[in-house]
Amino acid sequence: MINSRFTHLECPYCGEIYNKDQVQTYCTKDDCNTPLVARYDLSPGLDKNMVKFRKSTMWRYKEVLPVEKEENIVCLGEGMTPLLHVPKLGETIGMPNVYIKDEGVNPTGSFKSRGLSMAISKAKEYGLTAISLPTAGNAGSATSAYCAKAGMDAYVYMPEATPLVFQMDCKIMGAKVTTIDGTIKDCGAQLKKDNVDGQWFDVSTLKEPYRIEGKKTMGYEIAEQMEWKTPDVVVYPTGGGTGLIGIWKAFKEMAELGWIEPAKTRMVVVQVDICDPIVQAFEAGSDTAGIYENPDVTIANGLRVPAAFGHRLILMTLKESNGYAITVSDEDMRNGIKEIAKNEGIFVSPEGAAVWEALKKLRAMDWVKADESVVLLNTGSAYKYIENIEGIV
Ligand SMILES: Cc1ncc(COP(=O)(O)O)c(C=O)c1O
Ligand SMILES: [Zn+2]
Repeated sequence: MINSRFTHLECPYCGEIYNKDQVQTYCTKDDCNTPLVARYDLSPGLDKNMVKFRKSTMWRYKEVLPVEKEENIVCLGEGMTPLLHVPKLGETIGMPNVYIKDEGVNPTGSFKSRGLSMAISKAKEYGLTAISLPTAGNAGSATSAYCAKAGMDAYVYMPEATPLVFQMDCKIMGAKVTTIDGTIKDCGAQLKKDNVDGQWFDVSTLKEPYRIEGKKTMGYEIAEQMEWKTPDVVVYPTGGGTGLIGIWKAFKEMAELGWIEPAKTRMVVVQVDICDPIVQAFEAGSDTAGIYENPDVTIANGLRVPAAFGHRLILMTLKESNGYAITVSDEDMRNGIKEIAKNEGIFVSPEGAAVWEALKKLRAMDWVKADESVVLLNTGSAYKYIENIEGIV
């Protein structure tokens, strides 16, 4: 029995309510074009200690997740990844309380497993049978794997510049892969053209409401792993921003449930200097972000996102949490991968190195104090990026 407390879907921008028992995409009222979020009955009475003896997957928080029937859960063991204290690394900048949440150990090698496990499970609950998405790589691997497990068809569009392993990963799982000379945005445009009758359900970042519900479990886990406290700072490598929005949503839900004190965590967006639309909007004090035209390639494929559909929600999260947005370069990331590996024995993805390099800058600016606690998200494993980084050793 799940006993999900899921009540409805809501547009967090204009407040429009949507029925959860029908397939929904995003808020279409008056061209609002904002992602929808799931809302729950968060009244007290749900004891956080009940999760303690449950399986080590993200489904341990099932009452505050949107899947309503146990048989629809499509699980490959995602979530409950380690929160690793990294004192040697922290010591290099005089910070004793630095942690890495290592998402690279998820079933498909990245945190994308969480969002796609949830979205595919909900698609199964709605009786959908064909799924499509544009991807920077990791979301394609995850979609293909969960569709294989669920017996659904997957149609994946990825940039030609994506490391080969991602294509192989998708194809071996039975997905149909199309490569495009361009960015994830161009992939999305081609997918839209090919999906003429809308026969495939599009699980593009934040264009359906459930990937964020999978990603928010990172926030629940961080709090549980810190004895139901939240860190001073969370640093997140941001493309579409689902995880950033999701972690902040989780902190707010847990406070309402009475599981934690209201979080004072400052959320930080990290982007790469060759594609930084959110950082530019943050620096301009804007509530919306524009499109970054024709970004160059980068070793962090997941950060080459010229336009984030959830731009308003990302910027709202930064504002509400007194957060910050900052860029790093490919050179910084190459350096960060080596530093983390040598000091802590973790081989992180370029995106995971980006957040460490960002922390060093934030400390140098004194935006983060030496004794503050910081969680860095290593969103994926380095093993899929070998061709991007082979020159570093
Ligand atoms: C390893 C990795 N990190 C970060 C991101 C960016 O994630 P989000 O779109 O949730 O901001 C991606 C997206 O592809 C990724 O693959
Ligand atoms: Zn709306």
